[in-house]
Amino acid sequence: MSQGVWAAPGRVNLIGEHTDYNDGFVMPFALPHTTVATVARRNDGVLRLHTADTADTAGAAGGAVELRIDELAPGRGPGGWTDYPAGVVWALRDAGHAVGGADVHFESTVPAGAGLSSSAALEVVTALALNDLYELGLERWRMARLCQRAENVYVGAPTGIMDQTASACCTAGHALYLDTRDLSQRQIPFDLAALGLELLVVDTRVKHAHSEGEYGKRRAGCEAGAAALGVPALRDIPYADLPAALSRLDDPEVRALVRHIVTENHRVERVIALLEAGEVPAIGPVLTEGHASLRDDFRVSCPELDLVVDAALSAGALGARMTGGGFGGSAIVLTDVSTAPTVTKSIEEAFASGSHADPRIFPATPSKGATRLS
Ligand code: GLA
Repeated sequence: MSQGVWAAPGRVNLIGEHTDYNDGFVMPFALPHTTVATVARRNDGVLRLHTADTADTAGAAGGAVELRIDELAPGRGPGGWTDYPAGVVWALRDAGHAVGGADVHFESTVPAGAGLSSSAALEVVTALALNDLYELGLERWRMARLCQRAENVYVGAPTGIMDQTASACCTAGHALYLDTRDLSQRQIPFDLAALGLELLVVDTRVKHAHSEGEYGKRRAGCEAGAAALGVPALRDIPYADLPAALSRLDDPEVRALVRHIVTENHRVERVIALLEAGEVPAIGPVLTEGHASLRDDFRVSCPELDLVVDAALSAGALGARMTGGGFGGSAIVLTDVSTAPTVTKSIEEAFASGSHADPRIFPATPSKGATRLS
């Protein structure tokens, strides 16, 4: 078998934000939007990456690049979307896996730059295709780790493990409860339609400058907090110990970061408990609390994301929050199906009267993770 077609989805995160680089808990689910890769092996050591998409493949401007796989090295990529799949080939080879050249054609319906993990979809679809074509026998969690390494080391973005694991491991009708310390997972049934509920994704179409730098600063601040408290990661501060931990921290900024991470891990546990008790609408206020914490303590929201949350809640949504890294990108809104049109209208009107670009709003159904199509 020397060729085939594979797909990997983008994701939203239901709850558990910025916890993944603190060894904490996350709860993403896969979107129906996917990146599809048509891949053929080639024996000349060349990786050819091609897309016809003009805008929506991680900011691609279309076109093709050809790279020699034995010359791939961190920091040496041409920049842009091709660094993600090229980084995966580098990470696989650097880990000792016998991967040769390939022709890869990508098409994607995952909105790029919207905080919906278009880059993870690119990485994971590449890893899955090469795993099959070169018969590497890698498990999904292992592929996710290698994709994260591609992003951290080859691309140079200090992100956590959530997005790649979501794209690789989610299943339809479920949210993925992931412990990012040991990558243990549980699939949590999350069938909103059966309950007359809807989860809207609102892409603000905004991406504020410096978001990558700010992400790195939050990560460094969390690591400083863990070091000051003498724990390996902020995950090791139990919720009950939060007041005592905060009283030991002098720096108010670090204190606020610590408060977000510890309360956010607790919110993930509360959401799991509510979902398992069948009290799905009751997760709404927990999502909204999470937004306030990201806005006020972690300081990764922005006016457009706050506007989505405020407009949705004032129109009767059950809960709303930013999702993903922040500084633009997307928010999620939990609402009754019957209230969804009013909520959508309220958000659109709020954006129009604030002279913002029209947001892109769509309902999200928990969908399947990466898969081989043919
Ligand atoms: C981005 C990163 C993830 C995670 C989120 C915030 O999506 O890629 O690893 O840190 O931000 O939860």
